[in-house]
Amino acid sequence: MAIIDVDVWIWPLQSGPEECGRLESHLSGDERQRADRFLAASHRADYIVGRGRLREILSTYTHRPPQSLHFTYGSGGKPGLAGHADDPCFNLSHSSGLAALAVTPAHPIGVDVEAERPIKENIAERFFSAAEQRSIAALPAAEQTAAFFRCWTRKEAFVKAVGDGLNFPLATFDVAIGPDAAVKRIAGVDEAELAQWRMFGFQPRQGMAGAIALSGVPCGDTIRACYFRLSPAGWSSET
Ligand SMILES: CC(C)(COP(=O)(O)OP(=O)(O)OC[C@H]1O[C@@H](n2cnc3c(N)ncnc32)[C@H](O)[C@@H]1OP(=O)(O)O)[C@@H](O)C(=O)NCCC(=O)NCCS
Repeated sequence: MAIIDVDVWIWPLQSGPEECGRLESHLSGDERQRADRFLAASHRADYIVGRGRLREILSTYTHRPPQSLHFTYGSGGKPGLAGHADDPCFNLSHSSGLAALAVTPAHPIGVDVEAERPIKENIAERFFSAAEQRSIAALPAAEQTAAFFRCWTRKEAFVKAVGDGLNFPLATFDVAIGPDAAVKRIAGVDEAELAQWRMFGFQPRQGMAGAIALSGVPCGDTIRACYFRLSPAGWSSET
C-alpha cells in the first residue's frame, strides 16, 4: 500500500502587465503563436498567465527552467511533459478567471473547474448518463445546481484523465453525484479495473466546483491531496 500525492495549484488568471510579460517570457514559439491568435486581449492574457505559470510550477518538479520544458500532445490534445521518464503527470483547467493545475508523480490525471451558474435547459440530457440524470432529478430543487456542477466537473475530470476530451462518449460512464466523488460505471470495464479509478472533489473558490480523477491506482493505495493557492501575499498551502 502506498500514498499517492496529488498537488493542486490554484491561481487567478488576472495579472498585471509586468507579471504577464514575465510569464510570457517562459512560453515556447508555438505557445506565443497560439496566444496571438486570441482576438480578445483578455483571452490572450489568460492563456499567457495559465501557460506561463504552468511552466513555472512544473519546473519546480522537474528542476529544469520553465522555458526549457517541452510538451507533447496526445491525439485528443492533452499536454504532457516530454523527454524524461521521471517527469510528473499533470492536467490544467481554467474557468471564470481561475486556473487549477493537478500534479502527481505517475498516474494519468484530469482536473476540471467550473463556476456554478444557472443551468441551461437540456444540458444534462445532452451530456449526462441516464443514471446521473435520474440522481439529479431526485434531489430537492435547491440542491440540483450544486449536484449538476459536481457531476459536470467529475465527468470532465474523467475524460481529461483519459485524454480523449469530448471524443469520449459521455453517457457510457457514471459518476457519483453526492458529496463523495467516485466513478461508478464504465461501459465494458470490469469491477477490478473500475476500482483503479480514483476521484475527489474540491472547492477552487466560493461559487466554483472542482474535481480530479486519476486512473491506474492500485487497490489499497491512498490519495493525499495538498492545495497551493496564490494570493497577493504569495503561495500558501493546506492539506
Ligand atoms: C479539453 C476539454 C476536455 C476541456 O475543455 P474545457 O472545459 O473547455 O477547458 P479546461 O479549462 O477544463 O481545460 C483546458 C486545458 O486542458 C488541457 N487539455 C487540452 N486537451 C485536453 C485533453 N484532450 N485531455 C485532457 N486535457 C486537455 C489543456 O492544458 C487545456 O488548457 P490550455 O489549452 O490553456 O493549455 C475539451 O475537450 C472540451 O471541449 N470540453 C468541453 C466540455 C463540455 O462540454 N463538457 C460537457 C459536460 S461533462
